[in-house]
Amino acid sequence: MADTPGGSARATERILVVDFGAQYAQLIARRVREANVFSEIVPHDLTAAEFAERAPTGIIFSGGPASVHVDGAPRIDPGVYDLGVPILGICYGAQLIAHQRGGTVGRNERGEYGRTDLTVADPGVLLADAGLGTHPVWMSHFDAITEAPAGATVTASSPDAPVAAFEAPDAGLYAVQFHPEVHHTPCGQDLLSRFVHDVCGCAGDWTMASVIDSSVDAIREQVGTGRAICGLSGGVDSAVAAALVHKAIGSQLTCVFVDTGLMRAGEGEQVVETFQKTQGIELIHVRAADRFFEKLAGVTDPEDKRKAIGELFIRIFEDASGGITDAKFLVQGTLYPDVIESGTKDAAKIKSHHNVGGLPDDMDFALVEPLRNLFKDEVRSVGSELGLPDEIVWRQPFPGPGLGVRIIGEVTPETTAILQAADLIVREEIREAGLEREIWQAFAVLPDIRSVGVMGDERTYARPVIIRAVTSEDAMTADWARLPHDLLEKMSSRIINEVDGVNRVAYDITSKPPGTIEWE
Ligand code: XMP
Repeated sequence: MADTPGGSARATERILVVDFGAQYAQLIARRVREANVFSEIVPHDLTAAEFAERAPTGIIFSGGPASVHVDGAPRIDPGVYDLGVPILGICYGAQLIAHQRGGTVGRNERGEYGRTDLTVADPGVLLADAGLGTHPVWMSHFDAITEAPAGATVTASSPDAPVAAFEAPDAGLYAVQFHPEVHHTPCGQDLLSRFVHDVCGCAGDWTMASVIDSSVDAIREQVGTGRAICGLSGGVDSAVAAALVHKAIGSQLTCVFVDTGLMRAGEGEQVVETFQKTQGIELIHVRAADRFFEKLAGVTDPEDKRKAIGELFIRIFEDASGGITDAKFLVQGTLYPDVIESGTKDAAKIKSHHNVGGLPDDMDFALVEPLRNLFKDEVRSVGSELGLPDEIVWRQPFPGPGLGVRIIGEVTPETTAILQAADLIVREEIREAGLEREIWQAFAVLPDIRSVGVMGDERTYARPVIIRAVTSEDAMTADWARLPHDLLEKMSSRIINEVDGVNRVAYDITSKPPGTIEWE
């Protein structure tokens, strides 16, 4: 997880966030970065020497579901405490420090969950901004520290956590039972900022401008005078990766854009406009809609469809890039969450995600992955900084197989045209309502059924369109968006009036789980 991949910059100050199995490790890493310090997530079973190799400026132990009293509960190599690097423990991480460094962790009668009042007795360094008195914090624990390690000062308590925070500056140990990384702890960001700046002494010069500068250097060093190619999908990640690599190596980069015909209305043109005309990037534009429709004729099974689209895409990409015989580097828009994901777990396969615009398995290239250390919101900031238009930087996630997985049943030029027209209306109305950045994804789905309706005096027998709009943090879970009724009404009447072949509109009120975001 903490390797130095091709083309991605290395920061000199770094906070390692040790993952004890909580869903919060990513959030902690993001909050540290919001304090302008680079952070990365590492597994808890690294040895002290492996920690030392990564040269951390500070270490944060995340929370986790275990109890320190249970056999097999995750521990940290005790040598980590002797590295001379400040450590902040959060929740389980705090209990682990107490347990391993001579304090006591008690088994409570009951846990403390949700909003809790924290009483600060001595602000120390971490609670200096909060100050003396009572502050709301978010708790989620059963066990509680009853005695801090020798030499530590107890700085705060709560009704069920007598040691809700302690500091032992001489030992470089800091601990909080509550979760500073969540928004429900209003003093949390200041606390994390105090830790990284005041305790660890980080300068806080990790900004998007510095990321761009150091990435450009790293890309130049990796690619030298070689030639690189990049598959553009129209999505944010490949777009920002391409723009960044172009800034570094200019005309040594060629982009390949395979237009599958399954993109949203206007997207293909926008890719060409932005990259070829505005950014001046050399672009091979393959118009392949006919080949995709031909391949998809009669295919209705969702997995067969995904496979067909993925395979044809790769073949066309190979043909197009095969012309650039001297290219040795392939640019990929891999993001940090993908790196964490593939490094930590084998998720059960729900759907085969073809990364259209991605890497054919058997191509012989060195990878350039300049976004490997970045979260999505950071990639967006880099994109804006590089001058990419908002429509690309703020583009919603879009599945590799495109509208193919939003047309239930056969994908044809006709069904695609219906869906593109309906989808454009959904997106226009979301933008008009000012909801674009609040909604994770909003789009239309075309099911393979017909229903009876009446328009004017005529009986109709036509297709429905389903509107899908979800809020989400990371697409792993999602909630159906509570769109205002008048907005839904406007979408509905526009779709029925403006899109031929549609006589009914439904709104999908399924969250994920049990639904997925896409329909196929
Ligand atoms: P689901 O439907 O699994 O989607 O809840 C989760 C997120 O992934 C996107 N998605 C894809 N992205 N290739 C991609 O790059 C794919 O094949 C693919 N399928 C779904 C989906 O839009 C949502 O954001």
